[in-house]
Amino acid sequence: PPTLRALAARHDIRIGTAVDMSALAADPVYRRQVGSEFSTVTAENVMKWEVLEPQRGQYDWSAADRLMAFARQHGQAVRGHVLVWHSQLPAWLTAGSFSSDQLRQILRKHIFDTVGHFKGRIWQWDVVNEAFNEDGTLRDTIWLEKLGPGYIADAFRWAHEADPSAKLFYNDYNIEDVNAKSDAVYQLVKTLRAQGVPVEGVGMQAHETVDYTPTTMRQNMQRFQRLGLDTAVTEADVRMVMPPDAAKLGAQADVYRSMLSDCLATDRCISFTVWGFTDKYSWVPGTFEGQGAANLLDETFTPKPAYDAVRATL
Ligand code: XIL
Repeated sequence: PPTLRALAARHDIRIGTAVDMSALAADPVYRRQVGSEFSTVTAENVMKWEVLEPQRGQYDWSAADRLMAFARQHGQAVRGHVLVWHSQLPAWLTAGSFSSDQLRQILRKHIFDTVGHFKGRIWQWDVVNEAFNEDGTLRDTIWLEKLGPGYIADAFRWAHEADPSAKLFYNDYNIEDVNAKSDAVYQLVKTLRAQGVPVEGVGMQAHETVDYTPTTMRQNMQRFQRLGLDTAVTEADVRMVMPPDAAKLGAQADVYRSMLSDCLATDRCISFTVWGFTDKYSWVPGTFEGQGAANLLDETFTPKPAYDAVRATL
């Protein structure tokens, strides 16, 4: 049978997964499936600031470079994740007492160093991640507090300067539907584009539960398309209260199917990435108490109804 990536190629999209670098090193089944089933990969953690620059001025590119080499060997495009976020920052940064000017220079250097390191080899960069609250106001982060709202435009300009060939994305969760938060993202990217700021895509994380299927995702993607932007599903998973049963697994398949259909129905939805493809390695149980089984394959790599639904939809 054709692989997921072959099926996705027929629709001119890439199908991707987040990659756990420990699993990639230790688990040959995982490694084989990442390489064969997917045409794009995202580092689940190893391109985050706390990993890249654990001590100020001392970079560790080793794990990220291993992913880049793997992707190259397997003909995969890489989504760079992530440049500006409030989470998984190094302690030297969050604990330091920097002036606004210093912090602005630190962020600028981080973007130039990181984007520069991977220059020409990243397909899509998540430049700014999770900058909004649910009500559409800007999230209160170190960046907003010290640099003001202009940090977003600055980040995109710096990233573009450092690698003009990467597609630059704004990425967030709970923006799959048309709602207050996605309205705010829409206004942001519209304003940025009008100002000539190089934002080229909107990434919808799509961390879902089996209880709710996004109903307005297609129209939401299409309004971004009308602005001239690409969209991507960047971190799809669909969690459930444990243990799984047939009804929950069926509902899960419906959520994956629906989101993938919305992407396929949108010309400029260019990739569909899952946040891990096997329940063997997933951030969900560690983050959402009592929940799990969010991925396409179970912990023994056996396909779940969601996997069959994705195949059938592609
Ligand atoms: C998560 C990883 O999956 C975990 O391993 C890590 O401990 C925390 O971060 N939104 C994002 C991702 O943009 O970077 C997050 O990844 C999940 C939520």
